[in-house]
Amino acid sequence: MTKPQSPAQSPDFAAFAQTVRGARTCRRFRESAAVSLATLQALVDTARVCPSGANRQPLRYAACADPARNAAVFPHLRWAAYLKDWGGPLPGERPAAYIAVLCDKKGSPTPEIDLGIAAQTIQLGAHALGLGCCMIGAFDRDGVRAALGLDTPNFANLDLVLVLALGVPAETRVLDAVGDDGDIRYHRDADGAHHVPKRSLSSVLLLAHGGGDVMTE
Ligand SMILES: Cc1cc2nc3c(=O)[nH]c(=O)nc-3n(C[C@H](O)[C@H](O)[C@H](O)COP(=O)(O)O)c2cc1C
Repeated sequence: MTKPQSPAQSPDFAAFAQTVRGARTCRRFRESAAVSLATLQALVDTARVCPSGANRQPLRYAACADPARNAAVFPHLRWAAYLKDWGGPLPGERPAAYIAVLCDKKGSPTPEIDLGIAAQTIQLGAHALGLGCCMIGAFDRDGVRAALGLDTPNFANLDLVLVLALGVPAETRVLDAVGDDGDIRYHRDADGAHHVPKRSLSSVLLLAHGGGDVMTE
């Protein structure tokens, strides 16, 4: 058995870490750049094999790459609460596709955790394909259900829990360090780049017992 590589020496880990860092929330897209249903299916296909509490696999998905339905979904979504003077993406920069996530909460001991794992898996997969993604938890349930054709009795046992908006990115996103003021709110700079402050490793890794190599920030 080969010894695991240290993170600093592993190209695979470097690529993985770059994917995670690059997969920032995207809210402005090239709406005219279509996303195929095959792409959405491939993303759901990765999500369906994610870890799941008691392996109950309570999540279900609805995929949409149809411009007319997309237009019906869009008004029910709430964008970027911290950007007070921005009302969401304009025509032409709206998502080209959606994946709605539904959940049969009765069957699962861990529905929210399963949801987070699946959503991040889809967002990472989207980034690997050159797509941007915004997880949207603030939306009008009834409106999105109707827009996607999920308002029928055969889906009544499923809660609509998250909408993933997808498309080719049309905005620059930058990871920043949280400053001394502790402000975690994202903002845009004068050039329109979107800045996302993240807490430092030393502020989130509270304890690190043991010896060996340590990472310098
Ligand atoms: C569970 C969840 C719900 C979210 N809901 C929304 C939302 O309704 N609207 C929105 O614009 N962004 C939403 N976001 C995106 C967050 O605002 C974003 O993750 C956060 O600002 C950090 O940026 P980052 O994803 O680039 O790290 C949501 C993210 C998560 C994880």
